[in-house]
Amino acid sequence: MESEVFQRFCAHAHQQAGISLGPNKEALVTARVGKRMRALGIEDERGYLDYLEADRTGEELVQFLDVISTNHTSFFREPDHFDLLRTLLDEWRRLGQRRLRIWSAASSTGEEPYSIVMTVLDALPDLDIDFKLLATDISTRVLAQAQQGIYPAEKLTAIPRPLLARFFKRCEGPDETYSVRDEVKQHVLFRRLNLSQPPFPMRGPLDIVFCRNVLIYFDLPVRQRLLAAIQDLLRPGGWLFVGHTETLTGINTGFRLARPSVFFVPDDRKAAGA
Ligand SMILES: C[S@@+](CC[C@H](N)C(=O)[O-])C[C@H]1O[C@@H](n2cnc3c(N)ncnc32)[C@H](O)[C@@H]1O
Repeated sequence: MESEVFQRFCAHAHQQAGISLGPNKEALVTARVGKRMRALGIEDERGYLDYLEADRTGEELVQFLDVISTNHTSFFREPDHFDLLRTLLDEWRRLGQRRLRIWSAASSTGEEPYSIVMTVLDALPDLDIDFKLLATDISTRVLAQAQQGIYPAEKLTAIPRPLLARFFKRCEGPDETYSVRDEVKQHVLFRRLNLSQPPFPMRGPLDIVFCRNVLIYFDLPVRQRLLAAIQDLLRPGGWLFVGHTETLTGINTGFRLARPSVFFVPDDRKAAGA
C-alpha cells in the first residue's frame, strides 16, 4: 500500500473512532481492506479510501472499523471482575442501596452486558431495586447481534450451569443455539456510542463502568478525555473496570487503583466522616 494512502486510512480511523493505527499495522490494514474491496468490487486501495471517506451513511465506517479492530469477547471474560462485582453487590445490598446503574462501554456482541446482568440477578434474587444497564458500542453490526441475544452452544461454556439453565432457552431448529431470556434482556438498553467523542449524552450518576479491552485502541489524548468523561459520570465511590492488559498509567485522573485493572472514584464524603 502506498504510504500516503496508509496515512489517510490512519487519519480516518483516528478522526472517526479515536483508533490509533501504528506503522506496524500497515500489513494488517492492507490484508483486511482487501476483503472489503473484493466485497464491493473496488479495484485499488485509493478507490476504497475515497469510497470510505465519501460515505455519509456511516455504514462503511462500521465495516472498516470491524476489519481493523477486533470485536472479540466472551461470557464472563476475565472472571475475577465478576467475582468482585458480586462482592460489591452484596455490600451495597447490606447498605440498602435501592438503585443500580451500570454501563458496559464497549459491549461488542453482548456477552459482557449479559454476563453483568446475570450476575446482578443472581446476586440480588428478589431484585427489589431499580436496575438498568446501558450497553454501547460504535459498531451497529455488533449491537444488532447483541440485541438479538442468540449464541451457539460453544460460546456458552464459561457460563455457570445454574445461570445457563435459568437465563437461556434453546432455540428451535437443527443448530444448537440458545437465546437470552427476556428476564435478562429487559434490563439492558443498547445504543450506538463513539467513545472517542465525549461528552456523552447519558446522565449519571453511574455505579459501575465496564470499559474493557477498548482503551488499547486509543492514544493517550483520547484515553485521557474518555476517562475524564467516565469519571464525571460515576458517583463518588463508583467503580471502573478496564481490561487486564490495560492500565491508566500516564493518564491524569482522579481514579484510585483498587487492584490491577479495577479503579474507583474516591468518596470525599467518607474521608470527611460524613
Ligand atoms: C475487543 S472488543 C471488547 C468487548 C468487551 N468489552 C470485552 O472486554 O470482552 C472491543 C469493542 O470496542 C468497540 N470499539 C472500538 N472503537 C470504539 C469507539 N471509538 N467507540 C465505541 N466502541 C468502540 C469495537 O466495536 C468492539 O466491539
